[in-house]
Amino acid sequence: MRNKLVAGNWKMNMTSPEAAATVEAFVSTVELHPEVDVAICPPFTAIPKVHALLAKTRVAIGAQDCFWKEEGAFTGQISPKMLQAEGVTMCIVGHSETRGKFGKLEIPESTLGFFAETDETINLKMRALLFHSITPILCVGETLAERKAGATDRVVSVQLDGALSGFVPDELENLVVAYEPVWAIGTGEVCESGEANRVCAMIRGWLNGRLGEAMASTCRVLYGGSVKPGNARELFHQPSIDGGLVGGASLHPVEFAAVVAAAGR
Ligand code: PGA
Repeated sequence: MRNKLVAGNWKMNMTSPEAAATVEAFVSTVELHPEVDVAICPPFTAIPKVHALLAKTRVAIGAQDCFWKEEGAFTGQISPKMLQAEGVTMCIVGHSETRGKFGKLEIPESTLGFFAETDETINLKMRALLFHSITPILCVGETLAERKAGATDRVVSVQLDGALSGFVPDELENLVVAYEPVWAIGTGEVCESGEANRVCAMIRGWLNGRLGEAMASTCRVLYGGSVKPGNARELFHQPSIDGGLVGGASLHPVEFAAVVAAAGR
């Protein structure tokens, strides 16, 4: 039996005072659903504050990205070792906004190269996170053009191949995978629940084939992309969907609490 997990991805939002006010506003309602695991992924700068506020709760702290080296001359980067020291237990890897495949191209092409995570760097980050006992939330998903070309399953499988290359099942005991179709992120255009369930089942099938049944049956596969209080219950109660990675709705305490409640019984 897999517990549902709802993880809030705050992206580049929330100063530490704003983060503190948001946490204080949702934490008691989230605690009403002990059957749902909850994590918050604040920006790096707010992690210490949010960690202190959540210390006596069961809400986990996640990060949104990391660099794979332990330390050194890597200006601007944050390592899993640093995250572990701040109480971080989960970390998003391979989000479409860091893979350099933005769904929304109002961001100029020239910006893409600054993020440009690849399957190879995602794999390195996965290894570094696991070394520090931080659970990766591995994001995979296709762009609109890839979906229209009928390439969804192939694109997602190639992303899984790259990210999980070289790992054995025991190393990936706590892995979380998030299916996040790029065209559904921040657009308000949610993936239809049956189709989201089909792709999540395909991901579990891939895990089963490559890493074995024990790993595949315990790994949580989340859906992400325009999850809101109004669509969360339908999505989260599909047989192959174990919860959600939530962006916009996680910034609003009332909406986030409602999304967490939707994952409950
Ligand atoms: P959204 O973002 O809920 O705002 O669509 C989801 C995500 O990027 O993880």
